[in-house]
Amino acid sequence: MTDILQIRHPASATERDLVITDATIRAPELRQFVIDGEPLATYDPGFMNTASCRSSITYIDGDAGILEYRGYPIAELAEKSTFLEVAWLLLNGELPNPKQLADWESLITEHRMLPDKLKTLLAGFPYDAHPMSILMASTAAFYSFYPDARNFTDPQARALNIARLIGKMPTLAAFAYRKGKARPYVNPDDSYGYCHNFLQMLFKQAERRYVADPRLVRAVEVLFILHADHEQNCSTNAVRSVASSGNDLYTCTSAGVGALHGPLHGGANEAVLRMLREIGSVDRVPEFIEGVKAGRVRMMGFGHRVYKNYDPRAMIIKKAVDDVFEVTGVNPLLEIAQELEKYGLTDDYFVRRRLYPNVDFYSGLIYEALGFPPEMFTVLFAVPRSAGWAAQYQEFITDPENKIARPKQIYTGYRARGYVGMDDRG
Ligand code: CMC
Repeated sequence: MTDILQIRHPASATERDLVITDATIRAPELRQFVIDGEPLATYDPGFMNTASCRSSITYIDGDAGILEYRGYPIAELAEKSTFLEVAWLLLNGELPNPKQLADWESLITEHRMLPDKLKTLLAGFPYDAHPMSILMASTAAFYSFYPDARNFTDPQARALNIARLIGKMPTLAAFAYRKGKARPYVNPDDSYGYCHNFLQMLFKQAERRYVADPRLVRAVEVLFILHADHEQNCSTNAVRSVASSGNDLYTCTSAGVGALHGPLHGGANEAVLRMLREIGSVDRVPEFIEGVKAGRVRMMGFGHRVYKNYDPRAMIIKKAVDDVFEVTGVNPLLEIAQELEKYGLTDDYFVRRRLYPNVDFYSGLIYEALGFPPEMFTVLFAVPRSAGWAAQYQEFITDPENKIARPKQIYTGYRARGYVGMDDRG
């Protein structure tokens, strides 16, 4: 039986049945009601209750604290998979078999190098440029090097550009980092896997061969898996929105990087570290909490639009913190973070609003222990998220229901005013 929602508008004596599918109604059907001469619409700043697409990539149940990629629980993927396996899964819907994985890994390896001229672009940035600004500009510039990316309806061209993007993101991130440190660039080394190669491009110095502790490589792998996708968040929505006007993957990725950079989204882990440093010691935590409750500051790394329970990614990262600190020694800020979390999980202010630690609460501590400066944290989010953006981009491009993004507005300004000549303006 078709499930329907019956809506009645007494003033115009209109009654309509709206079909409910997947617990949603089609917003355009509301136009059947005409209110004061205007077709009825919904008002939903921030898309609090609006589905913008159908997607089969990532599932989240925010109340239960569940996150799955293509149906696989995130904890199992973080424990058993590599990042490239997960990237394949996001893009293709299934885990790769050994041959598919080997081919995929060698394809990504093949596309790790940056175009030579991109280095000229990098050289033009100020020495203290934020690496996210470099990433945004450089991902946009990729389109100049690979204009066939506009040929996105051709599956082969699309696959090639997705591999290019995922292959080049770590190299770009590492070059942006080394530029800030005035260190010479280290090219990709084909004998390393994705994450180990990333670390060697970042941290190799005078040694002949850089070898990272396998526990640190695994920690990066886990962090990359956890950050690979997160359904229709702010940056993914930006990617899909920019794609909707017929854009290539690189232009869309640049939009995603820009959206991710904000402190309410991917920039939160950088903000967490700043917050922990400003608090400075455990005995100052109560005073900070009072500031949060009085609305003077936000507790960064806490709260989430979707999770009204412990973010499952935060739970996994918390475990990874111990593994990393075993190698690097404990970050003294951990104690402050743990004290904050204690308040967060027990204080009425946080409990009533269902605010829990999110993915960013502990990730910054790991990144710092690995030797990254705070401005690199969001870059470390953007690198793996490129896989999710690519999967979401591909899903959008191949969605027969896709449409250019064009929300409505409620106009609140003047109408049809008489023009005021220059002499008559006060
Ligand atoms: N500290 C203190 N109060 C908070 C916080 C926080 N971190 N987050 C939400 N609140 C309060 C907020 O003041 C509001 O209270 P009231 O009802 O009294 O006005 C209530 O909780 C609901 O907050 P909201 O801002 O309406 O919720 P939202 O869904 O629009 O915002 C959020 C979600 C993530 C932007 C917000 O929780 C936040 O600003 N958190 C801190 C930044 C952060 O950690 N962001 C990373 C998100 S996870 C990574 C990612 O996926 O991008």
